Amino acid sequence: MPAFVPRHDQAQREAEALEFLHLYHAETGQPGLRQRQAALYRDGHLTLSTQELTFGARVAWRNSTRCVGRLPWQTLRVNDLRHVTDHDGVFTHLLAHLHGTLNGGRILPTMSVFGPGVRIHNDQLIRYAGYRQPDGTVTGDPQNAALTEYLRGLGWPGGPGTPFDVLPLAIEAAGQVQLFELPPDAVHEVRIEHPTCPAIAGLGLRWHALPVISNMTLEVGGESFQAAPFNGWYLQTEIAARNLTDERRYDLLPAVAAALGLDTRTRRSLWVDRALLELNVAVLHSFDRDGVRIADHHAVTRQFRHFETLEARAGRSVRGRWSWLLPPMAPATTPLWDRAYDDTEVRPNFTAQQPVWQAARPGVCPFHP
Ligand code: ARG
Repeated sequence: MPAFVPRHDQAQREAEALEFLHLYHAETGQPGLRQRQAALYRDGHLTLSTQELTFGARVAWRNSTRCVGRLPWQTLRVNDLRHVTDHDGVFTHLLAHLHGTLNGGRILPTMSVFGPGVRIHNDQLIRYAGYRQPDGTVTGDPQNAALTEYLRGLGWPGGPGTPFDVLPLAIEAAGQVQLFELPPDAVHEVRIEHPTCPAIAGLGLRWHALPVISNMTLEVGGESFQAAPFNGWYLQTEIAARNLTDERRYDLLPAVAAALGLDTRTRRSLWVDRALLELNVAVLHSFDRDGVRIADHHAVTRQFRHFETLEARAGRSVRGRWSWLLPPMAPATTPLWDRAYDDTEVRPNFTAQQPVWQAARPGVCPFHP
């Protein structure tokens, strides 16, 4: 804890805490608002109960303007691990998180909140290495090349060198960083095949079942939790229309098109669109085959409309960022296309952390450089 908190931060913190207490008691109907207010005025900050933390984490999801999958926000399970502040304890609980949330494929949205001084340097618990080659190409996920080099610098010897090597975790606790390799049974992956085109399986593609975001700070009631990894389940476009296909990521559309036997001499043949479509079909098919929960963009956007209806019924407004809510495939076929959203951010919420391996460039946002 810093010994000195600047006046206006402290005032803001108390204002947020007070606002949160009102929200919590109004929405949950729990008694005791007066006592909690008194505790806030006495201590200058809130020590959240597990119930308050859980509620706050759920509302942070509900408030996430970029998330189209918010309908089940109330189902978020929160592991209150604020007493865990050592490397081995954090790693052990991360393994338990991965196992519990996978739930045999019937993924249960989960968050684990760790204690002060803990930070996970990886942006997600499961990420594939990106090895920069001397010729300038990258084996693996180019988005993770800087992270991979950072982990090498911490002493990671590197993996076997496949395009899908799982990176170790860099866990910080009490000012020290330690590396931890995830055991294979902690990382559930899905082999990608197409229901009717066997050549797609021949590409040897795979993706991990869980998107566990580990570099966002949970902001609740004037408190900040730096180590609060959380996940729901994937939406197939994230994998098949971005991760595997972006030119700056795996850039696989030419290979998929070749597997499909498409004429790629001119984009005017729409081979890009056909390859994209079939890769999306393949990802949904493969996750379904393995019984791993995954959303599709038609269902999830309809669920989002339902979420909006329920929120309106509860007297709340839904904020959103249109460009994030709309899928990168056939957006105009979804019911969100002709809607407009207010993108104001409100708390509780998640805020992005500056990656440790990225030298700070003043004035440049690491996420939208
Ligand atoms: N887009 C990120 C990825 O592809 C995951 C972001 C969170 N997604 C989710 N469905 N909860 O890894």
